[in-house]
Amino acid sequence: MKSKNIIVGNWKMNPLSLKEAEKLFADVVKSISDIKKTEIVICAPFVYLEKLKKISKKISLGAQDVFWGEVGAFTGEISAEMLYDIGARYVIVGHSERRAMGENNNDVNKKIKSALSAGLRPILCVGEGMRDENHEYLNFVKIQIEECLNGVSKDSISKIVIAYEPVWAIGKEAPHPATPEEFREMNIFIKKILSDKFGVKEISKVRIIYGGSVDDKNAEGFIKDGKANGFLPGRASLSPEKFSKIVKICEALSK
Ligand code: 13P
Repeated sequence: MKSKNIIVGNWKMNPLSLKEAEKLFADVVKSISDIKKTEIVICAPFVYLEKLKKISKKISLGAQDVFWGEVGAFTGEISAEMLYDIGARYVIVGHSERRAMGENNNDVNKKIKSALSAGLRPILCVGEGMRDENHEYLNFVKIQIEECLNGVSKDSISKIVIAYEPVWAIGKEAPHPATPEEFREMNIFIKKILSDKFGVKEISKVRIIYGGSVDDKNAEGFIKDGKANGFLPGRASLSPEKFSKIVKICEALSK
């Protein structure tokens, strides 16, 4: 059986209070009550996860980062096991905003392994900073994927979601999102890298999703023409109205 499409809301460092987070989450839950064919995940700040878990089981919870160490003297860090214990089932790893703070492919690789062994499903973010006419950006993404997935077993690959998030398309300063055609090219390219590494059968359940200025206006094209298996919206995930529209578009196009 094919995996369901997946929409992962990345709240980033929002909202500013637990009260607002609970309201936002409850509003999102209400707005997606009739969704059956699409998996929905909210990646909220660590400090809200446990409370949000109590509001509804309809939405899975994810964290926005994890530390690779298991236990011990790592001041300020949070382990995969701790996240699983409070109810998280997904975790974003290698987001470009964390890479911009110094995280490299080797760190991301350790985080993926640690997440998998604690039962968390990693959402691996990859994407180039800019595009160039010589298509060097393809090589950049290939290296990201190969290094981040180094040593991951064939049995585990179906648990990983790959989010293609070109850095130039993220955030309110971005001039525009990628086009469905640009995503389509990358989608095929990523599948090829994965099938070479893990085998065609093993990767048939891996979902490749798009992130970078996704909204309710452009979502349809990414699924229809880009063959996206879902999305990783940032800003749009903070509006229950926009987020639920994206989810409904995805649901309507799900087989
Ligand atoms: P925006 O949708 O706000 O561009 O953010 C994308 C992103 O970084 C999600 O992880």
